[in-house]
Amino acid sequence: MMNPRDYLNQLLYPYASFTALRTASGPVVHNEKARFWEVFEYDDVLMLASEHETFSSDGSKFADHPEEFIKAQSILTTDPPRHRQLRSLVSQAFTPRAIASMAPRIAEITHDLLDHVVGQGSMDIITDLSYPLPVIVISELLGVPAEDRAQFKRWSDDMVFSEYDELTAINVEEYNERMRQVIRRTLDELYDYFRIVLAERRLQPCQDLVSELLAARIEGQSLSEAEILAFCTLLLIAGNITTTNLIGNALLCFDEHPETMDQLAERPDLLPQAIEEVLRYRSPALLLARYTTRDVELHGQTIPCGQMILGWIASANFDPQQFPHPEAFDITRSPNRHLAFGHGIHFCLGAPLARLEAKIALSILLERFQQIRRNREQPVETIHSAFILGPKHCPVTFKVR
Ligand code: HEM
Repeated sequence: MMNPRDYLNQLLYPYASFTALRTASGPVVHNEKARFWEVFEYDDVLMLASEHETFSSDGSKFADHPEEFIKAQSILTTDPPRHRQLRSLVSQAFTPRAIASMAPRIAEITHDLLDHVVGQGSMDIITDLSYPLPVIVISELLGVPAEDRAQFKRWSDDMVFSEYDELTAINVEEYNERMRQVIRRTLDELYDYFRIVLAERRLQPCQDLVSELLAARIEGQSLSEAEILAFCTLLLIAGNITTTNLIGNALLCFDEHPETMDQLAERPDLLPQAIEEVLRYRSPALLLARYTTRDVELHGQTIPCGQMILGWIASANFDPQQFPHPEAFDITRSPNRHLAFGHGIHFCLGAPLARLEAKIALSILLERFQQIRRNREQPVETIHSAFILGPKHCPVTFKVR
């Protein structure tokens, strides 16, 4: 189990923290208090994500899940055959072409955000760029007002900011009860918000994702209101927080290796590869969760049917069996088969959007500003979440090119 100090250090020393995590307790750990299992090696996390018949995403089938968790169920927590149907329905509204067509708007938003700070010579990458950008983009995609983003942030924070320490320090009943209260309150507010949007779009469809989700059909079947509400909620929360942290983590990585900023300013074509290395080196989504559908033998241990297993993506991405010199941050690393977006049937639907936003935001930042340096007087503080890795703030100084 991760030592709390390693957990705090993971943002600054991710390789050391996650290697310690992977090697300290063996490849499989049973956390008796919290009643879940953990796996750390690349092949095991890959297996968890790939073998959906043995490792289910739907905890409600196995655990005595409170009603709030069931209400929060989305595509992410659904198994085939329903997952296949949901995925093909939402994919109709979330096509690569639709995402690619957003590039000019993403560039425009980035320029606007940088225009606000250009005269200051300093900015907070999180507050001024990496938080507002994805939230404006997803708001526009969904068709909800971007001005409501302070409220979206509060809801997102409430849904994901449970501390790992807390998760392991208390028993599963207490943890579930705390989560239950937070989720009940947050989901009630979120669903009330989106119910109004849905009612408006039913009366008057627009060119937005909510209208497309209402219109989507497969074999004559449409999505239920509960499924649309859960999907909008997932997009608003999972889609924002992770992309914010990808951009924040990129700045931390580049700041630690200032030569990469010069290299990227000269060779912007290296940026997509550099972003993949950031995804590996400081994975914004730390883990994925599954439930065993039968007894499973793993590294000499028997994991009984119906148990929750956490697969540490962040640890798998430093596995030396898969990545030569995993400790090196190498923007030319190839191949780079990181698991930052998961794998298999639940592979991140928003990966093309996250990659596009990060590429555009970082390329415009490097194009307009130079000598971007993190303010080292202010210690980097990690956000408090058991699932997400990223800096709370990232103050930098810069010169205009
Ligand atoms: C699934 C990570 C951005 C929407 C996932 C999964 C991971 C992940 C690891 C798989 C979870 C599992 O297998 O249990 C990330 C990271 C992102 C990011 C690291 C940014 C750097 C986004 C964005 C959106 C999005 C921008 C949408 C706007 C989704 C959806 C799923 C998903 C809908 C569920 C897919 C399914 O179950 O079929 N993401 N994500 N993600 N992600 Fe992302």
